Amino acid sequence: MGPVKRVCCIGAGYVGGPTCSVIAQMCPEITVTVVDVNEERIQAWNSEQLPIFEPGLQEVVEAQRGVNLFFSTDIDKAVREADIIFISVNTPTKTFGLGKGRAADLKYIEACARRIAQVATGYKIVVEKSTVPVRAAESIQRIFSANTKSDLSFQVLSNPEFLAEGTAISDLKNPDRVLIGGDETPEGQRAIETLSSIYKRWVPQTRIITTNTWSSELSKLAANAFLAQRISSINSISALCEVTGADVEEVAHAIGTDQRIGNRFLKASVAGFGGSCFQKDVLNLVYLCEALNLPEVARYWQQVIEINEYQRRRFAARIVSCLFNTVTDKKIALLGFAFKKDTGDTRESSSIYISKYLMDEGARLHIYDPKVKKEQIMQDLSHSTASVEEPEQGLSLVSIASDPYEACDNAHAIVICTEWDTFKELDYERIYQAMLKPAFIFDGRRILDSLHGRLQQLGFQVETIGKRISQRIPFTASTIAQLDLQAPALKKMKI
Ligand code: UDX
Ligand code: UDX
Repeated sequence: MGPVKRVCCIGAGYVGGPTCSVIAQMCPEITVTVVDVNEERIQAWNSEQLPIFEPGLQEVVEAQRGVNLFFSTDIDKAVREADIIFISVNTPTKTFGLGKGRAADLKYIEACARRIAQVATGYKIVVEKSTVPVRAAESIQRIFSANTKSDLSFQVLSNPEFLAEGTAISDLKNPDRVLIGGDETPEGQRAIETLSSIYKRWVPQTRIITTNTWSSELSKLAANAFLAQRISSINSISALCEVTGADVEEVAHAIGTDQRIGNRFLKASVAGFGGSCFQKDVLNLVYLCEALNLPEVARYWQQVIEINEYQRRRFAARIVSCLFNTVTDKKIALLGFAFKKDTGDTRESSSIYISKYLMDEGARLHIYDPKVKKEQIMQDLSHSTASVEEPEQGLSLVSIASDPYEACDNAHAIVICTEWDTFKELDYERIYQAMLKPAFIFDGRRILDSLHGRLQQLGFQVETIGKRISQRIPFTASTIAQLDLQAPALKKMKI
């Protein structure tokens, strides 16, 4: 293959859209076409209002769109013309059948492989960008081999994406590494070289790691599992802090200064690990280990998920217990619905779980998020896996506020679920005046640490993660056991 002229990406989501926009910007002589089955999504990519919010993305898209970056629903044409085809469709956790609730559903990947085999001619490099179970590339290769035509040949590469939402553009422009896995044959190595030639335009050679296909696929799962495990580790310590008087922020700082541990990804919060990837990928890893008869390894990673669920459950239980063991008919302001700041994405957001738990207890929720639309919140709260038995009835308890002050007006409590910077700058005196007393604030993200003293002076009862602030009940091992048993919400809160 000569120099790459055309790249196509199937899947215009959080991964495919930003990744291809940056490739287009960095490689002006390559034509990049992003295709998707979802017409509405493609229309949005072609409009002023992009379908996803990501700092810096709008500028890149506006500079390249119509020049060498195109968004289209004509998948077949883009596939036919491309030298390299990225597959960037979603691989959600299966909701039915074998592996339900754990295995990754590869139906979209398979559908893409079949479509490519059907319409493509000539030589194509097909790149798995989506996170997949180890040896998924083998399935793609088998579909190609079984549907081969005389004028068609393929190489399948694994090139997982490590970008994090909210920092996608800077992660793509300045990645820690680019990982490319391929066949150990000369053809496989040539395909790796061809894909590397794109990244080499802006990524130093030393940061381009090449491996065999299975190492690359597994590295992506392992990287996400390690990151998730770190969050569960610090969250487990936060529970211990709350009953001992230690402060998890101080502990995180103290251990993070050890260079072997490092100081990143040590933030304890109510969030646990939200987002589309961590939970799905750890579940996928657990399933894979079980399927490969490695039950001890499976149980090890399963515990990472369990601590994540525990963190959200125990925070919700604390809200109920602080509010005199009942939140029924009480107005609670929930600030933040995205799974983290600087994104409008709500997938696996802790806000969904916390909302559901509180709705189960009959609380009236007034939700505010600067980037998440009302329809999205309502959809998440009606279709989530948590425990509201009658979704419609549950939704009547939910109102969406257009600003944080409206959400907090006449509320019994404020619950901060997302660490949006604007929540640090609210006029808490004004908010306190407008709330019912005693006024509670549950800082699920530790974003108000520097204000906790002042908030208490104003009269707030402040509760947070991993630190005991307001004196409530003398914390001893026996009272904690009682507290857990008494919290009415807790028993129901098993997911
Ligand atoms: C996805 C995967 O979920 C993740 O495992 C992987 O690491 C990267 O790709 P994301 O981009 O966040 O992540 O998914 P999403 O925003 O849902 O986008 C996927 C897009 O693929 C959707 O727009 C969907 O319409 C499209 N799609 C899906 C197709 O175009 N064809 C299909 O057959 C299926
Ligand atoms: C993650 C990985 O970082 C990325 O490499 C992979 O490609 C996709 O999954 P993302 O889910 O976008 O990216 O966000 P990330 O910043 O990793 O945060 C995930 C969740 O962990 C968020 O809910 C965040 O609030 C939480 N988190 C993160 C913590 O609770 N504490 C931390 O210290 C860091």
